[in-house]
Amino acid sequence: QLPEKIKIVEVGPRDGLQNEAPHQLHLDEKIQLIESLAATGLKNIEVGSFVSPKHLPQMADTGEILKRLSCKPGMSYRVLVPNQQGLEAALAAGAKEIAVFTAASDAFTTQNIRMSVAESLQRFRPLVQAAQTQGIAVRGYLSTLLDCPYSGKVPSQNVLRVAEALLEMGCYEVSLGETTGRATALDVEGILEDLAKTLSLTHFAVHFHDTYGQALTNVWVALKAGITTIDASVAGLGGCPYAPGASGNLATEDLVYLLHGLGIQTSVDLNQLVQVGAWISQRLQKPYASKAGYALFCQ
Ligand code: HMG
Ligand code: MG
Repeated sequence: QLPEKIKIVEVGPRDGLQNEAPHQLHLDEKIQLIESLAATGLKNIEVGSFVSPKHLPQMADTGEILKRLSCKPGMSYRVLVPNQQGLEAALAAGAKEIAVFTAASDAFTTQNIRMSVAESLQRFRPLVQAAQTQGIAVRGYLSTLLDCPYSGKVPSQNVLRVAEALLEMGCYEVSLGETTGRATALDVEGILEDLAKTLSLTHFAVHFHDTYGQALTNVWVALKAGITTIDASVAGLGGCPYAPGASGNLATEDLVYLLHGLGIQTSVDLNQLVQVGAWISQRLQKPYASKAGYALFCQ
């Protein structure tokens, strides 16, 4: 039984652009990208991160972006926040929703956020509480769902423990990040089955990278398991600067094409999205990496 409707979280302006060279896009162009994505019907868009500009200069203008966007009813512009300093900056810029991010592997968090998994959970607890008292919704990211770029295969009990901790501290949803894109269908089926033994899958989203072309197959497995929120990135932009070799995210165009083909509703106008995907690819001087997007654009 497939869901009737899927919520898409567009992560291109964050996960996509964090992986491009700094200053590739001007602030005005970032705003144009986000507003064009919103105009296609995408309602949940990650627009940047409040992280250290020394680590990730690409995201240094997130405050300006949030201030310049006008958030219409029904829209959610989200940002990543790793610590108290990030939360304060996000609040000052008017953020209404944030995401904290950790992983199931210490080797990954040590590189990505310079702390262990346990330390990240300990730091996030008061942060989530502080955000909630200000009326800010908090999503949790759990990276290295199955595979860590530094330490390889990740035991499912680690995933379970971190997922429970994020939900228990108040995250309304945990996005399961398949960071390297190496996992295949049975791996994803297995971990979702393990999670479903003790937790309801309604609390989870999936976040696939398409490094090995497995993202849509893994989406199919997640849909069959009952997942109804899926992250994707326009034109398949993205990767993680701390996951060497991991290429783009699942392309939003490919996801929407699949969902509409399955008779599942999204709020997105695919043809309009293709125009945005083609434009941003051209602007970044990259080939248009969404298969569905490229095919529709060439018609
Ligand atoms: P740290 O060096 O341990 O932090 O970094 P610190 O507290 O020691 O501070 C060091 C310097 O950073 C200080 O500046 C701070 O002010 C500054 P200095 O005194 O040297 O001039 N700083 C900040 N500046 C602005 N905003 C902040 C902030 N915090 C500290 N919030 C930290 C720790 C987490 C900050 C750092 O490691 C960092 O910024 N990492 C970036 C991580 C990141 O953005 N990764 C990519 C996103 S995760 C991802 O892509 C995966 C995902 O897509 C899911 C998946 O695919 O799996 C979500
Ligand atoms: Mg990612």
